[in-house]
Amino acid sequence: MSKIFVSRRIPAAGLEMLGRAGVEVRIGQEREDAGVDPRVMLDGVRWCDVLLSLLTEPVDRALLAANPALRGVANYAVGFNNIDVTAATELGLPVSNTPDVLTDTSADLTWALLLAAARRIPEAHEYMRAGKYKLWGPNLLLGADVSPGGNGVRKVLGIVGFGRIGAAVARRAAGFDMDVIAYDPHARAQVESSGIARWADLDDLLARSDFVSLHPLLTAETRHLIDETALRRMKPSAILVNVSRGPVVDEAALVRALREHWIAGAALDVFENEPAMAPGLAECENAVIVPHIASASIGTRDRMATMAATNALAHLRGERARNVVNAGVYEGEAYRARISRTIARA
Ligand code: GLV
Ligand code: GLV
Repeated sequence: MSKIFVSRRIPAAGLEMLGRAGVEVRIGQEREDAGVDPRVMLDGVRWCDVLLSLLTEPVDRALLAANPALRGVANYAVGFNNIDVTAATELGLPVSNTPDVLTDTSADLTWALLLAAARRIPEAHEYMRAGKYKLWGPNLLLGADVSPGGNGVRKVLGIVGFGRIGAAVARRAAGFDMDVIAYDPHARAQVESSGIARWADLDDLLARSDFVSLHPLLTAETRHLIDETALRRMKPSAILVNVSRGPVVDEAALVRALREHWIAGAALDVFENEPAMAPGLAECENAVIVPHIASASIGTRDRMATMAATNALAHLRGERARNVVNAGVYEGEAYRARISRTIARA
């Protein structure tokens, strides 16, 4: 019987799909609030034909090399910085992710955070809960406009990373009559032909934007892209939104920026050393913080589960997965050798 190791329990829709395919499934961690013990992870990888991993599990070269009969890795996430894809490719292992199905859900959360930070929704909510509301007042909890609003000036939304989610965030800005500018060294042509955003270099984007929203993949190139220098370039009235990956921002520098009001606020779904936060961040009133929930709608998490399961089954059968992130692997000798060896053996 074919075996798939699922590092942590995913929604039932995905597990049922694997069950219907007649696959034996082992789950490395049942708890929602705990990671997988590295020894359980190693045993699981050695036991299985395909690994279905979550973004919380580091999948490094040693783990990938631990089982010469492994056929692929299906990540239950669009981001795949938890996986050493270079090592996977060298070893002949396809790696897949779950794009598209979470684009709208993640773009919606981006806007929820942007609006919440601009209009100070969490502070206002806490104010009500604490019974502090005694009388309406003209200066109570004043925030920033997102639309032209009071001063009639169109606000500038700067998007860093113009992939699927960045573009979906840009589309939503039309309803707020914003001017959208975007920076993405890998998608300049897409920005310029998009009709919804104009190209800007990063420094220019940071200096001009009223809202800066981050949507790149985490790579060596984007780690600490938003550092002290970048934060100091932003307007004192600007708000930073990050729903990508925590390490894209130097979080210690961001805490200083928030405390010393180099910028007006930040709204964060992701953290540099998740689930920990940089010292002082949780105390910043001008930070809106949520626990990595950008794709967390019932419908989307179900679709991610069936998509990861579909990809895992393709890896298992030695077929091309729809959402492979290292498509070149299929052309390589390492993959051909691995699949002829493992499928022949099965
Ligand atoms: C979530 O962060 C994802 O990459 O899917
Ligand atoms: C884009 O809208 C710009 O102001 O250049």
